[in-house]
Amino acid sequence: MKWYQKHARILPWRGSSDPYEIWISEVMLQQTRIETVIPYFEKWMSILPDMVSVSNSNEEEILRIWEGLGYYSRARNIYKTAKIIMEDYQGVFPRDEAALRCLPGIGEYITGAILSIAFHEKVPALGGNGIRVIARLFNYQRPVNVIRNRNFLKKKLVELLPEKKPGDFNQALMDLGSLICIPSAPKCTHCPLKR
Ligand code: ADE
Repeated sequence: MKWYQKHARILPWRGSSDPYEIWISEVMLQQTRIETVIPYFEKWMSILPDMVSVSNSNEEEILRIWEGLGYYSRARNIYKTAKIIMEDYQGVFPRDEAALRCLPGIGEYITGAILSIAFHEKVPALGGNGIRVIARLFNYQRPVNVIRNRNFLKKKLVELLPEKKPGDFNQALMDLGSLICIPSAPKCTHCPLKR
């Protein structure tokens, strides 16, 4: 957490606890590099600043904003989910794992990201970068693309998650995994977990 305070990447959705912003950023980030996402996120928020504006929009407009990001089903799912949240949840993001998982385009990872970053709940949000950090921390030798092994590492992460700012903790793992604990030639001498 100390390392994160000092080295966290400055990103337009960082510091926000608005589940809408967290949701849009995580959907964009799911298949796309962070540098590519930043201008798209800013453009999206300037045109569609909240759930109401998305549900009042239409698929063509949303796809026009998304143009160039790829994996267009993500944009269609955002529209579907916004409609459901307006109709079934009075426009308020459900703060509930089971409810979130039922929404189009919201899987386990994004559920964890929304609950921990926006709602400060102690749940993991473990993507590829975070998995690598945890696996190396525990000197875990088994393949991490096997569900059973991922679940083991997720349990390990849950044991480490702090009561305060679990969303920052999850994002610290992501940043550590993409800045220091990189796939090949990791920068171990700069690693805050070295000791
Ligand atoms: N990759 C996916 N979500 C992220 C986030 N919130 N911060 C940094 N990297 C990410």
